[in-house]
Amino acid sequence: MNVRIAPSILSADFAALGDAVRAAERGGADVIHIDVMDGHFVPNITIGVPVVRSLKRIARVPLDVHLMIANGDRCLDAFAEAGAAMISVHGEALPHLHRTVARIKELGLRAGAALNPSTPVVSLEEVAADLDFVLVMSVNPGFGGQAFIPRSELKIRQVRSLLDRLGNAVPIEVDGGIDRTTIGRVVAAGAEILVAGAAIFGEPDPETATRELKTAALAGVPVSSSERR
Ligand code: DX5
Ligand code: ZN
Repeated sequence: MNVRIAPSILSADFAALGDAVRAAERGGADVIHIDVMDGHFVPNITIGVPVVRSLKRIARVPLDVHLMIANGDRCLDAFAEAGAAMISVHGEALPHLHRTVARIKELGLRAGAALNPSTPVVSLEEVAADLDFVLVMSVNPGFGGQAFIPRSELKIRQVRSLLDRLGNAVPIEVDGGIDRTTIGRVVAAGAEILVAGAAIFGEPDPETATRELKTAALAGVPVSSSERR
C-alpha cells in the first residue's frame, strides 16, 4: 500500500492559503485536496479555478481537485490548465460519467469518481475499469468537520473488491471525518489516499497534525497488503 495524506484546505484560513499548504507539506502532505463547491450540487460555495492556479505556483505536491458542482464538464479544461493533477467528479451530478472520465484522462490528468454515502458501489461497475482512483465520501459532501459515517469502512472494502475483480489496481481515496481515531480503520479497509481537513487545519499546528496523521495511517496498514501490490 502507498498511504498518502491529502490535507483539505477547506478548513484552512483562506486569507493565508499559501502558509497552510507550506505547513502541510513540511508535515509530509503527499497531495493537496481542493474542494470546489457551487451551492447547487452541495449547499456550500467555496473556490474555483483562480485559486487552483495560484496554489499551483507554490505547491510542491500534486493538486487534487474534488469537484462538487453542477455542469462539471464545462470546467474540466480550465482546472487542467490551472494545474490540477487529479480531478474527482460525482456521478450524482453528471449525465455522462463515462464521457467525463474520458475527458479528464484525455487532458492528461488522473480521473476519479466520487461516491456519496447514499450512492451504491454498483453504480461504478461500468466505469471502474477506466478510473485512476475512486473517492469514497465518508460524510455527505458540503462541509468540513462532520462526523465519519462508520458504514464507509464496508464501502471501501466493496470498492476494493470491485476494482480487484476488474484487475484495476488503483487507489481508493476517502474523504470526510478522517482523524487520528478513524484513519487507521479506513486504511485497514483498503483506503490509501486520506483526505483530512479539520484534523489538520483545525489544529493549532497543521504541520505536526499532518505528521501525526500519517503515523496513525501507517499503523493501520495490514501486514499482508505489501504483498498485494
Ligand atoms: C467535504 C469535503 C471534504 C472536507 C473534509 O465535502 O469534500 O474534503 O474538507 O473535511 P473533514 O476532514 O474536516 O471532514
Ligand atoms: Zn473533498
